[in-house]
Amino acid sequence: MKLTIIGTGYVGLVTGTCFAEVGHHVCCVDNDDAKVKMLQSGRIPIYEPGLEELVQKNAAAGRLSFSNNTAEGVAKSDVVFIAVPTPPQPDGSVDMSFIERVARDIAAAMTDYKIIVDKSTVPVQTGDKVAETIKRYCKARVDFDVVSNPEFLREGFAVEDLMKPDRIVVGVRTQRPVPALKEVYAPFNAPIIVTDINSAELIKHASNSFLALKISYINAISVICEATGANVQEVANGMGMDERIGRRFLNASLGFGGSCFPKDLSAFIKIAEQLRYDFGLLKEVQKINAAQMDRFVKKIADTLWVLKGKKIGVLGLAFKQNTDDIRTSPALELCHRLQKEGAILRVHDPKAMEKAKADLHNVTYVDDMNEVAEGCDALVIATEWEEFKKLDLERARKSLSHPIMFDGRNLFDPQEMERLGFIYKSIGR
Ligand SMILES: NC(=O)c1ccc[n+]([C@@H]2O[C@H](COP(=O)([O-])OP(=O)(O)OC[C@H]3O[C@@H](n4cnc5c(N)ncnc54)[C@H](O)[C@@H]3O)[C@@H](O)[C@H]2O)c1
Repeated sequence: MKLTIIGTGYVGLVTGTCFAEVGHHVCCVDNDDAKVKMLQSGRIPIYEPGLEELVQKNAAAGRLSFSNNTAEGVAKSDVVFIAVPTPPQPDGSVDMSFIERVARDIAAAMTDYKIIVDKSTVPVQTGDKVAETIKRYCKARVDFDVVSNPEFLREGFAVEDLMKPDRIVVGVRTQRPVPALKEVYAPFNAPIIVTDINSAELIKHASNSFLALKISYINAISVICEATGANVQEVANGMGMDERIGRRFLNASLGFGGSCFPKDLSAFIKIAEQLRYDFGLLKEVQKINAAQMDRFVKKIADTLWVLKGKKIGVLGLAFKQNTDDIRTSPALELCHRLQKEGAILRVHDPKAMEKAKADLHNVTYVDDMNEVAEGCDALVIATEWEEFKKLDLERARKSLSHPIMFDGRNLFDPQEMERLGFIYKSIGR
């Protein structure tokens, strides 16, 4: 099929590339000229495992192209996906101006029937607004359908998630676009759930809020564990073996972040508020998450006493492993909090250092993770990169003025760390 994606970021680029990989012809549009030029030259603006090779392969095969022109993209395809940002406003509600802009651009370019598919995460009832907008701004007065097709990919595993989705959600206002959407997704061999458009939009916010809730739940349990000498990992293992609960998203940590959970939670709370429902449960999820960071910072301060002038090594800047994305990263927030207390930081991340440089100043960026601890008073693990588990602990212990490690991601075994001579403080253990 001929497909166009408007917005070539984490979602748009991976979706477009995977659509091309299964044989569709895809045009990815973005209004960031520099990004489009970079993509046209075969390089990619984000780090996502396996993505660069797929982009190059499909571009070379002539199935994947890039453009900065929405009208050109609309003319090329019958199905147009929207994957632009839906960032939070200061009050937590969603800034819908990107979606509205694109709806108008698509409308202005339409000369025949199109299916407009929203992939961005949007408040329930957005589909109706998009349809109204297109109707208003489409001078050609042609037929169209608006579909909601929320995206569930995880950054760091995006290609894998796109190629092997758990399910595809297609929310429609009429049945007319359903066969085309089924054809788009047929090669992925995943269950396709067709719903009304409001339900599809809700599925996304309800899913992300539930996952955030699960993380806050285990983080709250970690507080009880610390107060009683229990081990949160063992509690999570025991809970997780119950199929009704499941082990995933039950890892205690210094809290969740990233470009989705925090904003989707506050958006959902705001949406509920506008519908006159006080979603207190989700407000508590936010509170627990914020408290988890406070508690971690306090743990560091209680141990090191005065932070002013202390040298601290921080491993991890990305909001989670396998990505260079630093948007609302707890690791970066931690760095800022430590800096505010006067600590001097040496930091490392396998992929996110370039992006972090725009946000985190007056720190020493260290290329080799094994050199971070040199001359430091303590070492902190802030992101759960798999390779941090291979840290040369003997070297780290010798490099530190006193062997103290704060592990915000529970990467190491407390008993083993003690045996190696560390004062080791993790979460809920
Ligand atoms: N990142 C994720 O893990 C993820 C997962 C599921 C859903 N989502 C949702 O998908 C949407 C996009 O997220 P993202 O992380 O890909 O954002 P992003 O910022 O990485 O990418 C968005 C892209 O849209 C482009 N853009 C903005 N306005 C445009 C316009 N008028 N015309 C053309 N291009 C335009 C930007 O230049 C940018 O490249 C959001 O609603 C987000 O909540 C994100």
